[in-house]
Amino acid sequence: AVDMSTALGAVPIPSPVLTASGCSAFGRELEPFVDLTAIGAVVTKSVQLRPRSGRPTPRMAETPSGMLNSIGLQGPGIDGLLDGELPWLAERGARAFVSIAGVRVEDFAELATRLRGVPGVAGLEVNISCPNVESRGEVFACDPVAASDVVAAVRAAADPAQPIYAKLSPDVTDIVSVARAVVDAGADGLSMINTLLGLVIDPDTMKPLLGGITGGLSGPAIRPVALRCVWQVHAALPEVPILGMGGIRSGLDALQFVLAGASAVSVGTAVFNDPSALGRIHAELAAALETRGFASLREAVGYAHR
Ligand code: DOR
Repeated sequence: AVDMSTALGAVPIPSPVLTASGCSAFGRELEPFVDLTAIGAVVTKSVQLRPRSGRPTPRMAETPSGMLNSIGLQGPGIDGLLDGELPWLAERGARAFVSIAGVRVEDFAELATRLRGVPGVAGLEVNISCPNVESRGEVFACDPVAASDVVAAVRAAADPAQPIYAKLSPDVTDIVSVARAVVDAGADGLSMINTLLGLVIDPDTMKPLLGGITGGLSGPAIRPVALRCVWQVHAALPEVPILGMGGIRSGLDALQFVLAGASAVSVGTAVFNDPSALGRIHAELAAALETRGFASLREAVGYAHR
């Protein structure tokens, strides 16, 4: 059998297949369909300092090639996470990769401080790239300086044993310069990519369908964009671990991300049609690697560049 073990920074995980932030909340909905201890980690919905109700509904739309969301960072806030969701995951032996989001640099640092030493927290995904917030003021990922300010503050505040991955936006002209900046600021890895801003107009009302007007596009439509980002960043920074995501719904999709340079992948939109997608994709990826003569996942990471 192919050795499927990998790591998030220095933290070993048994599978390269993780949930994607936002698409499985905090893991409860997936529990009937997925062995939460067998997947790489549950990447949580981004948490903020305070609870937030998000954008007006409707805030999700299906398109033929992907999904649009304008959730607007709805969530229980850090207290709710620490009191409810994280203990629930830890009791089950699941690893949580906690996505954090904020308006100010200090918000991110405070969240990292609150998460220090919390049982079951394998690391932090720093969401600097949500496209759905008022005036897009929280989109740090479009500016290498703003992005690295957040990452440096989180690295300084976070538990040294918890790796931090910066979540990047595809909506930049040069993703490699943002990647370099956040790695220089102390990111242990990169999550690529967040959604790409889009629009759907309802032909009946002749108005934007989503309450938030625009929304982030995910799913198969953005897969080649995500893969291109992973490829470019791995070519420039081959030592930096990449958590790849964007429209992965099969083992062969995941294989493309691994060959481009991802050492792990997140599966998001696909779980809405197939809640058992994570286990299936792990098995399909293992079979695809075996067929191609790889003894381990690690051997295949970045293979397409060599
Ligand atoms: O597409 C997204 N939607 N990306 C984010 O980072 C946050 C989320 C939301 O809550 O709107």
